[in-house]
Amino acid sequence: MTARTTAILGKGGVGKTFFASHLTMAFSYLGVKTLVVGCDQKQDTLRALSAETRPPLMDWLDSTDYDYASIAPEQVTVPIGPYADAMELGASPLLVGHYAAVLDEAFHYFSSHNLLDRYEQVIFDVTDERWDSVLAPLFRRVESVVGVTAETPESLFVLNRLLRAAQIGGYELEYPLVLVGVVNNASRDPLAFERYVERTQCFPLMTVPDLPELAGLKAFHRTLFELKSLPQHLEQVLDGFVKIADMLRGEPLNIFPVSSLDDEEVWKLAPAVNLPS
Ligand SMILES: Nc1ncnc2c1ncn2[C@@H]1O[C@H](COP(=O)(O)OP(=O)(O)OP(=O)(O)O)[C@@H](O)[C@H]1O
Ligand SMILES: [Mg+2]
Repeated sequence: MTARTTAILGKGGVGKTFFASHLTMAFSYLGVKTLVVGCDQKQDTLRALSAETRPPLMDWLDSTDYDYASIAPEQVTVPIGPYADAMELGASPLLVGHYAAVLDEAFHYFSSHNLLDRYEQVIFDVTDERWDSVLAPLFRRVESVVGVTAETPESLFVLNRLLRAAQIGGYELEYPLVLVGVVNNASRDPLAFERYVERTQCFPLMTVPDLPELAGLKAFHRTLFELKSLPQHLEQVLDGFVKIADMLRGEPLNIFPVSSLDDEEVWKLAPAVNLPS
């Protein structure tokens, strides 16, 4: 098997890790062998799914003097049940702005162990890096992206930049990088989101309301999938994730491309917001 690969993009704090961890559990629920890769220096992906810890890949590489072969996948991944594993990439020793190097190291490591062949699905929970070049190593290698956003102009602005960067990255590929769709998370007033979707022709995958029950899950290393007898509104959220996982497993998707907006236009989507100077 060779994994299908999907990157989860969005501004800091919009719910990428919430989405990535739930999607991981949705695949697992469907019996799809899944690896979720935390691509964020603060390492919140593994923590959202398990109380168990592992040093991140970059720490292993540093301590072995970049001896890729000596680092067994079991040393960097934590099993999250029979069908899912999670791992963290960690931080670049060169600090800010060098996350591209971390991504390159990660893919080098994956290929040195044929790691992508061990899974059917790999999900990348991606750091908030809105500058085109930083995520280029990722965009050259993943098949699809899902955007997560709130309705705030800031989160739509960052999403728009990230989708543009993904599209530019995708131009270098022989096959097009597929934008599967966008998720409106912690939704209160969907107006700006709806306008964004309309203007860009993005596919709206799912809207998750702002629910206090969801805010606490991460601290307990839990997703809705581990909770028993959910109330109906949470059952609906869970079903939404299973549907998206199912869709990602289906025939190659053709929902592409978006017409990304100019920066200034995004700010105009939300009422009463001034342009940044
Ligand atoms: N729909 C929601 N309703 C209420 N709270 C939510 C919802 N989605 C996420 N949260 C909470 O909001 C916080 C931020 O979510 P999360 O950590 O998933 O975002 P993130 O995009 O991964 O952030 P970061 O960029 O900092 O990694 C978390 O405490 C999470 O539990
Ligand atoms: Mg996160």
